[in-house]
Amino acid sequence: MCGIVCYIGSKEATPILIEGLKRLEYRGYDSAGLAVTDGKETCLVKEVGKVSRLEEKIKEDSCRGTMGIAHTRWATHGRPSVPNAHPQTGEEDKVFLVHNGIIENYLSLKEELLKKGHTFNSETDTEVLVHLIEEYYEGDLAAAVKKVLRLVQGTFGIALFHRDSPDQIVLARRGSPLILGIGENEYLAASDVNALLRHTNQVIHLKDNELAILNRDDFSISDFQDRRVIREAETIEWGQDAADKKGFDHYMLKEIFEQPDAVENALRGRLLEGEGVSHLGGLEGVLDRLKAMERIHFVSCGTSYYAGLLARYIFEKVTDFSVEVEYASEFRYRNLRLDEKTAVLAISQSGETADTLAAIREAKRKGALCLGLVNVVGSTIAKETEAGVYNHAGPEIGVASTKVFLSQCVILTLMALLVGRYQRLSLTEGLFITRALRKLPGQLRRILDQAPRIEEIARRYAQYHNFLYIGRLYNFPIAMEGALKLKEISYLHAEGYAAGEMKHGPISLIDPDFPTVAIVPRDSTYEKMINNIQEIKARDGKVVAVAAEGDSEIAGHVDDVISVPRSIDILQPLLNTIPLQLFAYYIARERGCDIDKPRNLAKSVTVE
Ligand code: AGP
Ligand code: GLU
Repeated sequence: MCGIVCYIGSKEATPILIEGLKRLEYRGYDSAGLAVTDGKETCLVKEVGKVSRLEEKIKEDSCRGTMGIAHTRWATHGRPSVPNAHPQTGEEDKVFLVHNGIIENYLSLKEELLKKGHTFNSETDTEVLVHLIEEYYEGDLAAAVKKVLRLVQGTFGIALFHRDSPDQIVLARRGSPLILGIGENEYLAASDVNALLRHTNQVIHLKDNELAILNRDDFSISDFQDRRVIREAETIEWGQDAADKKGFDHYMLKEIFEQPDAVENALRGRLLEGEGVSHLGGLEGVLDRLKAMERIHFVSCGTSYYAGLLARYIFEKVTDFSVEVEYASEFRYRNLRLDEKTAVLAISQSGETADTLAAIREAKRKGALCLGLVNVVGSTIAKETEAGVYNHAGPEIGVASTKVFLSQCVILTLMALLVGRYQRLSLTEGLFITRALRKLPGQLRRILDQAPRIEEIARRYAQYHNFLYIGRLYNFPIAMEGALKLKEISYLHAEGYAAGEMKHGPISLIDPDFPTVAIVPRDSTYEKMINNIQEIKARDGKVVAVAAEGDSEIAGHVDDVISVPRSIDILQPLLNTIPLQLFAYYIARERGCDIDKPRNLAKSVTVE
C-alpha cells in the first residue's frame, strides 16, 4: 500500500533513501524504516510516525553504506509499531525485506513455518515472506524469491537484499507498483516515480509477475518463469520542481491554483474548434467500436467517482449512450450485463486504485471494451486498458484530489463531445461547447482571485461541526465532491445531497449550528434551489451560496455569497467546484489540520 525506495551505487545510501521517503510522505503512512549495508555491517532502523523521526533516530545510529532499502508503512496486518515496521527480517537477520500490499494466505503459510520451528517478531503478513525466503535460500536470492512467490496469494511490491550478497537488491511485483530508476553508475527503485525524479528521469516500470535484480553495474528483469524481459527505459517529463510546493503553504493549495493550467493541459491539441468536436489521440484506435456502443459504464472511487457522476449528466445531454456510474468496489462484485455493446471507462488519478483495477479486469473478462482516464503515466490501469486518455495534469501530491478532478471533468466533456458529434449533437451545439471550454482557464483564474474573500468566509464557518451541501442536476455531484473535500481534510461531518432530496430526510438536521452550502447557478434549477434555501432559512439554518456573477437576487436569501463567472450548463459545475475546494482548504487550515496528509487516508489505495 505504501512506499518503497531503494538505492545501489557509489553514494551514501541513507540520505538518498530518507529524501525519497519524504517524497512519498504524501501517500499517508504510519511508520518508516530502512536497512543500509556497507558490505560488512547492516544497519536497520525503524520508527513509528513521520520520516523526520526516523531521520532523528538515524543520527544516533549513523547508518553508512552504499546500498539500502527503505519503506513507509500503512499498516494492514498488525498495528503501527517498531517491530511491525519494515524492513522485516527473518530468523537469522540475513534477509531484509520491504513490502507494499497484502499476503492473503499468510496465516496458512505462517502455520507451516511455526510447525517447522520458526519464531516471529512481528504481527505482519510480510514477515512470512522473509522466513520463507530464508527457507528456500541456497545462495541465489532471486531464485529463492521466485520459488516463494509461487506459494503466495495476494498483492505485493517487494524489495530485499541478503547480508551475504551486499551488491544486489532483488525486486518483484504483483499488484503493487514498482519502478526502476536508471542513473549514472547507480540504480534506484521506488513504488512511485516522485521518489526517483531527483536522481534520474530514466525509468522502467516493472509489470505484474516480474522480478528485477539490481547490481552495482547492471540490472536485469525476468518474469517468474525465468524468461528474460528486455524493456527500454522511458523518459519522464515531470521535472522535480513540479512536485515541489512553489511557495504555497500546502500542495493542496498549490494544486488548486494550478487548475487553470491543468485545464489548458487537458485541452491542448484536443479541440477542433472549427468543427465543434474534440480529438483524443488515445481513443483513435477504438473510435469506430466506441461509436457503435450502446452503453458506457464509468467505474471509479472517491473523487474520481464524482467526476463519473457529473459525466453521466453530460453524456446524457450530448450522446445517445445509456450511461451507468458505479463505485468500482461495487461494480467488481455485481452481475452486470457487459458485452461487446458496452464500454467501461475507469477513471483514476493514480491508475493504481485496487478496486478500479479489479473492476476493469472483471469487465475485460466479460468482453467489454475497457478504457482508462488516468493521470499517472505508465500506471497499471493505463497499461491494462485497451485505450485511453491521460490527464497530463502533472503530479498531484495533496491526498485530497483537486486539479485532477477538474481535469477529469474536462476530458470527460471532450469524450462526450467526440462521441456526441457522431450521434445527436449538431455543429452549432458542438461549437457552443468548444467555445465555452476555451473560456474556462480565464474564468478559473477570476475565481482564484477571490481566494482571500473565500478565506474570510471560511474562517467564520470553521467552528461548526456539521455541514450540508446541496445542488441539483450537474451540480449535485459537485455538492458531493464539496462535502468529501471538507470531510477529508478538516475531519468535519459533511453530506452532499441532491437538493430535492432534502425534504426526504436531511432537513431534520437543520438548525442554527448546521450550515448549508448551496450551489445555485442561473439555470433551470434556480427557482427550485431558492425554494430549498427558503426551507433552510425557515429553520434558522445558515446558508453560503455559490452563485452566478450578476445574480442580484441571491444575496437577499442567504448569509454569504461566493460569485462565479457564468458558463454553459454542463460546464458551470466545473467553475462551481473551485470555491468549494477553497472553502474546505481554509476551514481545515483554520482548524490546524494536516491538510496534505489527512489522518487515515492514503493518496493511492492499492488494497481492497
Ligand atoms: C480524493 O480526494 C480522495 N483522496 C479519494 O477519494 C480518491 O479520489 C480515490 O481514492 C480514487 O483515487 P484514484 O483517482 O487515484 O483512483
Ligand atoms: N501488509 C504489510 C503490513 O501490514 C504492508 C503494508 C503496506 O503496504 O504498507 O505490514
